[in-house]
Amino acid sequence: MKPLSLGLLFLYSCITLAVEGSYDYKDVLQKSLLFYEAQRSGKLPSDQKVTWRKDSALNDKGENGEDLTGGYYDAGDFVKFGFPMAFTTTVLSWGLLDHYNGYKSAGSVDEGLKAIKWATDYFIKCHVKENEYYGQVGSGNVDHAYWGRPEDMTEKRPAYKITTSKPGSDLAAETAAALAAASIVFRSVNNTYANVLLTHAKQLYNFGYKYRGLFSNSITDSQCCYPSTHYEDELVWGAAWLYRATNDKTYLNYVDTLWDSVKSMYGFDWDQKFGGAVVLLAKLTGDTKYKTAITNYCNYVFQQGSRTSKGLIFIYDWGPLRYAINIAYVCLRAADLGINTASYRAEAKKQMDYALGDAGRSYVIGYGNNPPTHAHHRAASCPDKPAVCNWNTYHGSQPNAHVLYGGLVGGPDKNDQFTDNRTDWRHTEVGCDYNACFQSMLAHFIETGM
Ligand SMILES: *[C@@H]1O[C@H](CO)[C@@H](O)[C@H](O)[C@H]1NC(C)=O
Ligand SMILES: *[C@@H]1O[C@H](CO)[C@@H](O)[C@H](O)[C@H]1NC(C)=O
Repeated sequence: MKPLSLGLLFLYSCITLAVEGSYDYKDVLQKSLLFYEAQRSGKLPSDQKVTWRKDSALNDKGENGEDLTGGYYDAGDFVKFGFPMAFTTTVLSWGLLDHYNGYKSAGSVDEGLKAIKWATDYFIKCHVKENEYYGQVGSGNVDHAYWGRPEDMTEKRPAYKITTSKPGSDLAAETAAALAAASIVFRSVNNTYANVLLTHAKQLYNFGYKYRGLFSNSITDSQCCYPSTHYEDELVWGAAWLYRATNDKTYLNYVDTLWDSVKSMYGFDWDQKFGGAVVLLAKLTGDTKYKTAITNYCNYVFQQGSRTSKGLIFIYDWGPLRYAINIAYVCLRAADLGINTASYRAEAKKQMDYALGDAGRSYVIGYGNNPPTHAHHRAASCPDKPAVCNWNTYHGSQPNAHVLYGGLVGGPDKNDQFTDNRTDWRHTEVGCDYNACFQSMLAHFIETGM
C-alpha cells in the first residue's frame, strides 16, 4: 500500500470510531435542559425556548385557595407529583453544585439554575404552614384519562397535602433535601433566596422527622404511580443534605439513629435513596462504613446484577435506562472518592453511551442516530391548534407533532429490543426523574473530559 492510502485508512478508522463511540455530551446536556422547559406547568416566562408549550394549569390551588401554580408535569401526563419532582431537584442541584465546570463549559449554568428554581419556587408555594405541605396537584386516574394539550385541560385538579395527622416523612425529607441542596447552589447567586430555601428545608425536615409515615398512605391518590416503600432512607438523605448545607452535626446524629434501618436497603431512584445517601455521606464524613456501603452496592450491581446482552444494567422493565443511569451516577461519584475509580468510570460511561447510541440507536429524543419519535407524551404528541388532539392522536401511527428535545425515554426490554410506540409507556414515556442523574452525569463527563 502507498503511504497515502495508509494515511487515508488511518483517517477513515478514526472517523468510524468517532461516529460509533463518542457523543457530544454538551449538546445532550443542553437538550436535557430543554426537556425540563417542556415539562413546565403554570405561566411560562418570556425567555421560554420551547415555544410549542403554552401557559397551563393556571388555577392550581390549595384547599384554602393558596396559589399552587408552577412546578413540573411529571412525565407524559399533567399530574404534579411532588415526590419524584423533589428527587429530580435534589439530583439536579447535586450535579450543578459538584460539576459546575461541566455546566459552564456547555454554556448552561443559567439554564441549570432556572431548571432548579422552577421546582424550588413551586415547593415554597406548596409549603403553606410549618407542618403542612402540598405533595400533589392533579389526580392520577382523572388526569390519565385525558389525552390532549395541557392548555386545553378541563378536568378538576385536586391538591393533596401532608399534615401532622396525615404525615409523609419521605416526601417532607426529600423536599428538604432538594431545598437544602438548592440553597448551596444559590448561595453565591442570591444569598436571600438561599436563606429562604434553607429555612423551608429545615422546617420540612423537622416535620418529616417528627411525624412519621409514608406519604403515599396519606396522599393515597399517588398510589397509582408512586407508592413509597420506606421513609428512613429519605430521612438519611435529607439529613445528609442539611448537614452539607449547614455543617450542623445534629443532622449527623439523625443519620446515626437511622443507620441500622437503611444500611442494606440498596437502590437509587425516586423511591430509594440509599446509593446517593451513602456516597454523599462518604464524601462529607470520610467514614469507612459509608465507603464500604457504596462499594458493596456498586460491586454487587456491576458484577452480579442482571444485564441485557449488550451490557445495559437491567433492574426493572419500567424505565430501565433511568435505573441503569442512576446507579452509574452514584458509582461514578464513588469513583471520584478513589473507590475502584477506573472500573466504575468505565461502567458509568458504558451505561450512558448505551442510551446515546451504542446499542444501535439513540434513546434521547431529538439527538443522535434514529431517536424515538413516538414518545408517550401528551403535549408533544399534539399538533398546533386548531388541529384536534385526543385519544385518536395517541393511537395514531404518526410521529409526535413536536420534538421533545432531550427527553430520555424508558428504554429497551431485557433483550435490547425497543418499539417506538406511544402506547408502550413503560418504554417510550419520559419522566422528570429519568433525566436527573442523566443530566448530572453528562455534566460530570464534560467536566472531567470523559
Ligand atoms: C433574590 O431572592 C429574593 C428572594 O427570593 C428575591 O426577592 C430577589 O428579587 C432576588 N434578587 C435578585 C437580584 O434576583
Ligand atoms: C402500537 O402498539 C399497539 C399495542 O401493541 C398496537 O395495537 C399498534 O398497532 C402499535 N402502533 C404502531 C404504529 O405500530
